[in-house]
Amino acid sequence: MSKSNKASLGSTKPLVVPLYQSSVYTLPDLDALDAIMNDGEPGYIYARDAHPNARRLGALLAQIESAQWGVVTGSGMAAISAILLATVQQGQRILASNRLYGRTVQLFTEELGRFGVATEYVDCNDLSAVETSLQNNPRLLFVETMSNPLVRVVDIAALANLAHEHDALLVVDNTFATPVLTRPMDLGADFVMESLTKMIAGHSDVTLGVVAGNDADMLPTINRTSSIWGLASNPFDCWLTERGLGTLELRTRAACKNAEQLANWLAEQSGVSRVWYPSREDHPDHELAKRVLDGGFGHMLCFELSGGRDAVNRFIHAAPGIPFSPSLGHVTTTLSHPATTSHRYASPAEKKRQGISDGLIRLSVGVEPFEQIQEEMAKGLT
Ligand SMILES: Cc1ncc(COP(=O)(O)O)c(C=O)c1O
Repeated sequence: MSKSNKASLGSTKPLVVPLYQSSVYTLPDLDALDAIMNDGEPGYIYARDAHPNARRLGALLAQIESAQWGVVTGSGMAAISAILLATVQQGQRILASNRLYGRTVQLFTEELGRFGVATEYVDCNDLSAVETSLQNNPRLLFVETMSNPLVRVVDIAALANLAHEHDALLVVDNTFATPVLTRPMDLGADFVMESLTKMIAGHSDVTLGVVAGNDADMLPTINRTSSIWGLASNPFDCWLTERGLGTLELRTRAACKNAEQLANWLAEQSGVSRVWYPSREDHPDHELAKRVLDGGFGHMLCFELSGGRDAVNRFIHAAPGIPFSPSLGHVTTTLSHPATTSHRYASPAEKKRQGISDGLIRLSVGVEPFEQIQEEMAKGLT
């Protein structure tokens, strides 16, 4: 029997990190507040500025990303916003890959445009085109390691060298590749960001992002920007993400294995006019992918149905075990339709340029037994 009713843990500690589901902390006096705010003493005041679950998660993610620090944000888009707001001034330009998640393009073109920041888009698989565009003195170059949706792979090390020769920062969205397959900071990136919502949290029950970097001066700037613009994370999502981290590598490796097998199987099915997966020799970046990805080619793949939109709808109805669920990184396999979801607001000409047709299906491949995925996919294709 316990001698007291107090919730003391005595000499024991929880095995699992506690969830600090509190938006505010109590302080013993004004001096304690000053010590935290002015002298960086340990402690917390208000969760939008900092909270223990985000701090822990940021440190764990920094380690995985080979970065000096990591700041967790309320979403992947918040992570991109934090980097832009912390680094770019009115009147400056940015340079971005011409193959990016649709909302990122909207953020650059529509939102940054309103604040007097112009974005130029360039084919980041064409290094001489990148070099030419860098002569316009952009503040930064933004790329996705593996692009959404067609898993085009870029040469981060070469892009980092080019960007730095022109005094531009390299910012990498590593969401599709994950830090399991590649660590952009090791290749010279200045910032890496991830949508933790996806493979890293891994269970489709969290919306979070992270910004990681090496420049010690940028850490307080990103923290300040995150607090002032309201980009902060919530404790429970951080706690869930920390749980997901424990299996990140296992899940990613298993999903990559399934994806590679599935891509090869899909390429032989009638009604499938094209498969996009970097392990395949017919993928435009196959050689580069072999060089830059470590131990797998990703959990994302795309395939095209020759019957267009109607064929996609038929597939969705016939294969309920592969739910139409427009996100990625779930434990089990899900599908999305870039033309009406992630790239909905791209113009028809832009979709055509990128190869995002009405018949294109994007798969986020899960870790269930391969035969289970194949059986369900076969139902969709009949
Ligand atoms: C490549 C990529 N980057 C960023 C994001 C944005 O992440 P979030 O939805 O967590 O804001 C997404 C979302 O789908 C994405 O696919």
